Amino acid sequence: MKILAIESSCDETAAAVVENGRNVISSVVASQVEEHKLYGGVVPEIASRRHAEAIVPVVRQALEEANISLDGIDAIAVTYAPGLIGALLVGVNFAKGLSLSTGKPLVPTHHLRSHIASNYISNPDLKPPFLCLVVSGGHSHIVMVEDYTKMKIIGKTRDDAAGEAFDKAARTMGMSYPGGIELDKVAEDGDPFAFKLPRPVVHDAPYDFSFSGLKTAVINLIHNSAQKGIELNKPDVCASFRYAVVDCLVTNFLKAAEDYGVNKLVIAGGVSANSLLRRTLREKCDESGYEFYMPDKSLCGDNAAMVGSQGYYEFLSGNIAGTDLNAYATMSIE
Ligand code: KG4
Ligand code: ZN
Repeated sequence: MKILAIESSCDETAAAVVENGRNVISSVVASQVEEHKLYGGVVPEIASRRHAEAIVPVVRQALEEANISLDGIDAIAVTYAPGLIGALLVGVNFAKGLSLSTGKPLVPTHHLRSHIASNYISNPDLKPPFLCLVVSGGHSHIVMVEDYTKMKIIGKTRDDAAGEAFDKAARTMGMSYPGGIELDKVAEDGDPFAFKLPRPVVHDAPYDFSFSGLKTAVINLIHNSAQKGIELNKPDVCASFRYAVVDCLVTNFLKAAEDYGVNKLVIAGGVSANSLLRRTLREKCDESGYEFYMPDKSLCGDNAAMVGSQGYYEFLSGNIAGTDLNAYATMSIE
């Protein structure tokens, strides 16, 4: 079964053709990031306009690269939640139009579920159940993936998402949006023990995260030093901050795995590209005898291949929408 998948939840317009949820035949991503960099973050109004401009050529290119016409497509999957509402609406309305004109079924797909599904592409043997750490620019969740379309949130952030904290700390150090990627690179040359930063915990909720205090601590460190005319070693600040964030993520994730008796661990979302997070979990899982899976780095950020993968499992579970499908800025992964 071949699915044409469409993604437009944030600042990437993407389309892909995916066969049976696992085999990516084509995947096209048009990123708007260079334009949003000028403003230090995603400007929703600009994002919607750029999606509207890009959607037709991006879908056309995905079909061309797959060497397939719409006749050869069996269903159309589209990200309908969560995300920027104006951005989501471009993909949803386009997919609705395509479904109506071709008669192909329309499969609404949740963005975070798709991030998890990026693992099905990179790890062909991976099957639920497993425990997944979903870390993106907008979310930080520990999710029990009981089946492809059955999930339960075990823990989540009470304030900032991990990606958001990375981006804000990076911005304070003068890195351009989305700074998490550059911060990760610069941190490779720094000492993670150079600055002592807090590891916030949420009382009575051992699997929940809180990154806003940690973010404020690093921002205060940078500002206070600047006021005193002290020049901080940037790689050391990046390494110390990255270590603190990863430490919080890994500690809670491994505790949840132990408490719930799960031995298959998976990571997903933009922050799953973080080098320290990948290294640390690889090591810890090898030591503890857990199976560990991560998406290929190229599939960590937003793309439509992962939508085509999750869309396949949504279709199999009977999740098919009519042309009254709407987009939603927020929606639980459950
Ligand atoms: O999943 P994603 O592409 O978009 C959302 O659904 O939010 O995640 C984007 C986030 C950004 O905050 C970005 O800085 C972060 O993922 N990110 C990273 C790395 N690569 C991307 N954060 C830390 N280290 C990285 N290597
Ligand atoms: Zn995402």
